[in-house]
Formats: sequence, structure tokens, C-alpha cells
Amino acid sequence: MGFFSLSGLALVAALLLLLLCLHARRTRRPGEPPLIKGWLPFFGMTMKFQKDPLGFIRTLQKKYGDIFTVLLGGKYITFILDPFQYQLLTKYHKKLTFKKITEKFSVKVFSIKILENSEDLNHELHSSYQFLQGKSLDIILEDMLQNIKQTFEVLLKSTKWNTEQMLTFCCSVVFETTFTTIYGNVPTGERKAFISELRDNILKFDDKFPYLVSDIPIELLRDVKSMREKLIKCMTPEKLAKIPGTSKVVQRRQEILEKYYGLKDLNIGAHHFALLWASIANTIPVMFWAMYYVLRHPEAADALHDEIDHLLQSTGQKKGSGIFIHLTREQLDSLVCLESIVFEALRLSSYSSTIRFVEEDFTLNLETGDCCLRKGDFVALFPPAIHGDPEVFESPEEFRFDRFMEDGKKKTTFYKRGKKLKFYLIPFGFGANKCPGRFFAVMEIKLLLLVLLTCFDLELIENKSVKLKYTRLLFGIQHPNSDILFRYKAKY
Ligand code: HEM
Repeated sequence: MGFFSLSGLALVAALLLLLLCLHARRTRRPGEPPLIKGWLPFFGMTMKFQKDPLGFIRTLQKKYGDIFTVLLGGKYITFILDPFQYQLLTKYHKKLTFKKITEKFSVKVFSIKILENSEDLNHELHSSYQFLQGKSLDIILEDMLQNIKQTFEVLLKSTKWNTEQMLTFCCSVVFETTFTTIYGNVPTGERKAFISELRDNILKFDDKFPYLVSDIPIELLRDVKSMREKLIKCMTPEKLAKIPGTSKVVQRRQEILEKYYGLKDLNIGAHHFALLWASIANTIPVMFWAMYYVLRHPEAADALHDEIDHLLQSTGQKKGSGIFIHLTREQLDSLVCLESIVFEALRLSSYSSTIRFVEEDFTLNLETGDCCLRKGDFVALFPPAIHGDPEVFESPEEFRFDRFMEDGKKKTTFYKRGKKLKFYLIPFGFGANKCPGRFFAVMEIKLLLLVLLTCFDLELIENKSVKLKYTRLLFGIQHPNSDILFRYKAKY
């Protein structure tokens, strides 16, 4: 190694050291929330947070109250833990923004080029999300049920017991249902091979997601970069045009993206790939948890069977071979036990924090007094703090299938400090940037559970307790710390 590269290395090391020292030197200014930065420069409290995220945040809450700033992986994050203060995010939406975060994500994780007029593009893309809500959900429901029938066709042919790992199974059924409902129905001959290859690649990519969102350069993550290029090339307009039955949301996005990037631009593939990732990454683990809890809790499975049987009988649907179920959105919505189970799975597994970037130094007006925020920091709502609050949810660590039910109806009243809460379940974020796919995701998990319970006998094979694996802290639903074997058999 020559002198030049040695001195270059020394310079980089010195700059890094300087940067670390600058980070470590930050002190709390008057009016700012308590600052917890630990003794480790840059990493701050990361290790403690990773070890026991909720326990760590709870300890700080006891000591410092409902608002404090923590140094985590080089970022100063101010946690707002009082659920009656969540609305501050919408009140100060011009100063606490999502744009910088999504842009950084788009470039770093999905390799999307940010255009000069990205604000207009984002605005138009947001308008396309109308096709994931309201009346559009009726069409989505019909397509989804049809696609689920196709997904399960092969499994229904065999009347023998099949044994599988539950997470692997959920990856397969959620990916196939989601892809075919959003991106279209791959012709039967090619369907299995095409879907399996795309699924395996996107899951390998997703596995590295926690590293990608941290500041580790993609070049250091072995074949992730080439995997990403492959996935983007799979989702180009030319490739997608060959798949019939594309959903309205993708058609609209395609028109908007063509207008901004031009027809042949690879960035369009990158955008489609990003939406595909968003549509499966969290739904898969929620499906796992919902299925796992139902099979671990026979009282939940019995109540669900009763509810579904009642609906099928009252709508004159007879159980028979194949997937015979047909139902409207209102009928699906009337299944309160099913919804309660999905919400309970979300409550127990969601660490998908709502994070916003502080655009400028400013003062938050809290009920308890003013609080100064610093430009360049982040503000976060942390779902486990409310989801695991014993004042809001009795024995919060327990799975209770009927937690969101009351007298046979949906339960929507939860209290803290004797006051009714407006926000008690926040797995999908908050305010203007709340997840636009939330209705789609909940509908999908409900339909998959409904079909599985109605058409198959299901049993856990292993008797082990699966816990959360804390690898996606602040970013999404936590995966299980191990997979678990189960078996299934077609009923009819
Ligand atoms: C259980 C499944 C899901 C969970 C827990 C989830 C959670 C979230 C969260 C927490 C956010 C950030 C919101 C915020 O910061 O306020 C988000 C954003 C987003 N989600 Fe989901 N999501 C799920 C499923 C889906 C599905 C099925 C789709 C698409 C069909 C989707 C598309 C998106 C998009 C496009 C954004 C970005 C929105 C924006 O830029 O404003 N998500 N999701």
C-alpha cells in the first residue's frame, strides 16, 4: 500500500473520530427534552434498546416522563409516549415531515432516483392510493378471494396431512395472494415458477432489510445489490404488461410514473418493486402471528369456527369440496371475532414506529409545558408503549382473542387515566402518511384465516412458545424468533 492510500486512510479515520466526538459532545439545551445518549459515541443506547426494546423505553419513561430524546445508531430520536399527545404529529406536520425519510429510504433501499419535482410526483402517487380504499375494496375483495382459491387449489386436492413450517407457509400464501391481486394473474402454466422465483428473491432481499436501513453500504452486503437489480428488472413496465388483470392502483401508478420518468426508465421498475415490498413485508409476519395464536388457543379457534359457521349458514352457503365461500365486504366486516384476532396479532407484534424528521428548530406546545425540538433530529411514536400499556390493555403480554370485542360487537373504547383514547392501536402509522394499504392488509389476513379455518383441518405439531425476534426495531412487524411446524389437511 502506497503512502497516498495510507495517509488517505489516516485522514478518513481522523474525520470519523472527529465525527464521533462531535456526536458525543451534544448536550441538552434549555427547554429540550431529557437527553439519553449513553457513553458509546454514535451507537448511544442502541445495544440496550435492541436487547429489550419495550423494557428499555419503559425504564426511561419511569425516570424521565412521556417525552425524551435517545441517541440510537447516530440518530437523536425524541419519543412521544403519551397517547393524548400523538396528534402533535398532525398539528406540526409541516415541521415534522415524512418526505426526507421516504426519500432516503427510496434511494438507499430501493435505488429510486429522486427527481427535482419529486414533491409533485409524490402528491400524484398518493392520489393513486384511493384505489386501495373505499369502494375499490369491493373489487379487491372479489379478486383476492378468486386468487386465494387458485392459491389453495393444489392443497385442496390432497386429503392427506401435509406438514410445513408456518412462517414459510405464510410467506407462500401471502406473497401469491398479494402479487396476483395487485400486479395481476400470471397465466396458469407459468404462475408457480414465476411466483416462486420472485418470492424467493424478494424474501432474500427482505432478510437484509434491517441492514439496508442502517447506514451499512449495500456493497458490503454480499449479493444484495445484484438481487435488487434483478428484482427491479422483473418489475419493469414491459414485464408487467405481460401479466393480465393488473389492479387499478398499479395501472394508475404506471401512468403517473411514465409521465415523470418516461416509458422505458428503470426507475419505474424500482417504484413497482418498492410497492410490492411494502405490500408483503409486514403482512407476512402478521399472518404468521394470527395463525400461530389461533392454533395455540383452542378457545379462539372454536369462537372463530362458530362465527364463520353462523355467517355461512345465514347466507345459505353449504360446505362442500373446494373453496365455496363467497362474501361481501359488509359480511366480512361483520365478523367481529375474526377482526379482534387480527387486531390482537397486530397489537402484540407491531414495532412499526411512526417516525418524522424535524425540519427546523421549534417549540412543541404540550399540555404539560413547552418542549424544544432540534433541526435534524427525529420524532417517534412507539406502538409497543401503548399496545403493551397495562392501564389500557389488561395483562397486555397475553393473547386474548376477544380483546377487541364487547357484547358481540366491536370494542372501540379503551381508557387511560380515566380518559377515552382516540388512538389505542397504531400499527399502521399516523396522520397523512398513515399506511394506505391497511385495509388491503387486514382484508387479506382475514380472508386467508377464514379460508384456512373453513376448508382445512389445522394442527400445531411442535409445542413450543415462539417469541418476537427484535431485528426490525422501529421498522415494522417483528418476525418470530423461530419457525414452527404445523400440519393441514383438506376437510372436504
Ligand atoms: C400488516 C401489514 C402492514 C403494516 C403493519 C404496514 C405498516 C405501515 C407503516 C407503519 C407505514 C408508515 C406510516 C407512517 O409513518 O405514518 C406504512 C407505509 C406504507 N405502506 Fe404499509 N403496512 C402494511 C401493509 C401494506 C400493504 C398491503 C400495502 C400496499 C398494498 C402498503 C403500502 C404502504 C405504502 C405505499 C406506504 C408509504 C405511504 C407514504 O409514503 O405516505 N402497506 N405502512
